[in-house]
Amino acid sequence: MERTGPVLWFDTLESTNNRMKELIRQGAVHGTVLAAREQTGGRGRLGRSFASPPGGLYLSLLLQPDCAPERCLSLTPLAAVAVRRAVAACADAEPVIKWPNDLLLNGKKLCGILVELLFAGGQPQVIVGIGVNVNTEREEFPEELRETACSLYTETGRRIELHVLAERLIGELDGLYAAWLADARCCLAEYRAACATVGREVLLLQNGESRAALALGVNEEYSLTVQYPDGSTEDIRFGEVSVRSTEA
Ligand code: BTN
Repeated sequence: MERTGPVLWFDTLESTNNRMKELIRQGAVHGTVLAAREQTGGRGRLGRSFASPPGGLYLSLLLQPDCAPERCLSLTPLAAVAVRRAVAACADAEPVIKWPNDLLLNGKKLCGILVELLFAGGQPQVIVGIGVNVNTEREEFPEELRETACSLYTETGRRIELHVLAERLIGELDGLYAAWLADARCCLAEYRAACATVGREVLLLQNGESRAALALGVNEEYSLTVQYPDGSTEDIRFGEVSVRSTEA
């Protein structure tokens, strides 16, 4: 399925994912991209907000795969690999992946990904929402994030044209999506190689409870295999689980 949609740029949107939902109701086509330079109500995973000051690239891509909803789960790691490739090409930086879908540079959050799945017109509508801190200065982040968030600019001292990064990112997403249609594991090896969570002690936070575990690996469905102190293991799927590293 060739990408047919337009790439629409905005200075400010409340949320590119929210705007995409409006466009879906109006019949948006596969491959539509919304890109904003700022969001006033950016949304993150698990109902959190996502700080989206000027200087960042906030982008949503609409995909309309003809497949079962469960298969769409693997579009989240695909997006992480696409961002990693685009950042490596445009900024000569090598972020790592924090399972399931944050990108970290020098231990700080560079990018967040929110993939949302809806149904309209009888087929899955997947909104791949990506927020990359590109030229953001440290003071532009909310104070509470200044120690934990970074941008390409804060880490490399170089600014990057948002259009250039967006074009590369869209190209990587297109290429990986074409490969994913044939095989959802198309980027498994790359994802595993970049996943910094594996081998670390983690805290799994779910329904107000936290559980310590050791991250053993990423399985073929991109789930995180963990081992609890009693020796039992579990495969953690994307969803309502927050994973924190217990190490610095
Ligand atoms: C997270 O880190 O929890 C995910 C953040 C996802 C942010 C992106 S920015 C573009 C798109 N629009 C949104 O409102 N959210 C996603």
